[in-house]
Amino acid sequence: MSGPDDHVIVLFGATGDLAKRKLLPGLFHLATAGLLPDGYRIVGSTPARSAMRDAFRALAHDAVATFGRSKPTGPVWKTFEESLSFGAADPQDPGPLLAAVRAAEESLGGASRRLFHLAIPPSAFASIIGLLGDTDLAKNAKVIVEKPFGTDLASAQALNETIHTVFDESQVFRIDHFLGKESVDNILALRFANGMFEPIWNRDHISYVQVDVPETLGLEGRAHFYEGTGAFRDMIVTHLIQVLGIVAMDPPVSLAARPLRDEKDKVFEALRPIEPAHVVRGQYEGYRDEPGVAPDSSTETFTALRMEVDNWRWVGVPFYLRSGKSLAQRRQVITLGLREPPLRMFATELTDQRQDCGNKIVIDFGDPGWIAAAFLAKEPGPAMRLEPATMTFGYAGSFCEENGLEGYERLILDAMLGDQSLFTRSDGIEHIWRASTPLLENPPPVQPYAPGSWGPEPAISELIAPHPWHLPEAVQMFPGTGT
Ligand code: BG6
Repeated sequence: MSGPDDHVIVLFGATGDLAKRKLLPGLFHLATAGLLPDGYRIVGSTPARSAMRDAFRALAHDAVATFGRSKPTGPVWKTFEESLSFGAADPQDPGPLLAAVRAAEESLGGASRRLFHLAIPPSAFASIIGLLGDTDLAKNAKVIVEKPFGTDLASAQALNETIHTVFDESQVFRIDHFLGKESVDNILALRFANGMFEPIWNRDHISYVQVDVPETLGLEGRAHFYEGTGAFRDMIVTHLIQVLGIVAMDPPVSLAARPLRDEKDKVFEALRPIEPAHVVRGQYEGYRDEPGVAPDSSTETFTALRMEVDNWRWVGVPFYLRSGKSLAQRRQVITLGLREPPLRMFATELTDQRQDCGNKIVIDFGDPGWIAAAFLAKEPGPAMRLEPATMTFGYAGSFCEENGLEGYERLILDAMLGDQSLFTRSDGIEHIWRASTPLLENPPPVQPYAPGSWGPEPAISELIAPHPWHLPEAVQMFPGTGT
């Protein structure tokens, strides 16, 4: 693979949570892995007008030291640090930003490309895009736009219009970092590089699908962002439905960006409008006492719901999605439950829960991730007794993990290379918001749940009945998970 051309990367929201936790450490990891271009400069930007170059370098150092896999030392760090500069983004006075970008470009010899990363709240998108359009900065540039992309169908359409007044769709990279995860990308390999799984990957053989992303994290000081967003917009409409798209899509004619995204977006077009009666909204006890949260807040910190994909392959198969804060485990798991064989000829004493541990495919896509085929096997002995068993592939120990990139790292690299395959497209996002409209217009009330639980009971069990949630695992499928 040939590397990207020389780049000036402009990071809007340079002092924000995302820049500190993911983007600066991720860019530095790309540098240590030799995946940044030979010539690169990173211009941090915020609305602050004061000169911040040294403060930005110090912030980047702390961010990489705290959150990075590669620590900020040695010659690679020195080069990285020297590449960092700062230019204030003030739509009334674009001078400082222009000057910083020009200085960075000149230091690279004047033939570099521009990549803008909008790691800013959605409310700030329009003014920054306007600034890029009013100056010549948008010309031949690429722009990475963070999620959530709008807050409903109308705002997503308006945002797309704003973006398209300045950028051609080929320049736009709407990012969803779950799509950059190795183990999500591996679902394409599992499904389409093997003859084993795809023949059963449909309504004839699969009775339900779960995409379950519980988090142990609480608010982590993000009340300002989270209060106006909630679990549905933060996680479901973005990460979980994108993963659903990868699980449910038909085989593309190739892995090139257009056919891959065409097939994924067809799934979103087939999403049945979400019925509010099929949604459980929860709020962890104590959320309203968090700093910055309204005492009567009705923001959900948890959502579980049932979705349907009304197409030839999936009609009638429920897709259960769940994600929430302050839950019992941090996991990222897809479960495909297989239909029962037509005849039960084994006298089995298994409880229903243990019975359910067989006969499914489980994909853990939390880095580094694993895949298990769970089945029922005969226990040795004279009697025909069944016990759940698994065949498991684990990334850890199977491949050289050092080559692995985190979601953001992979996607920033792809954006520099101009590859849009793993980025979301405007039509797909609009289909998702369209299907979400009944829920957004009629959200059920939030139900309290205890921190450290799996969400509000009995609502979550009733939602999925007669199936159980795969998590928490009743049998261990991979060392370190389950009971
Ligand atoms: C982000 C959400 O997009 O994804 C966070 O805003 C969430 O609320 C995070 O915690 C989860 O991603 P990861 O990669 O840290 O598991």
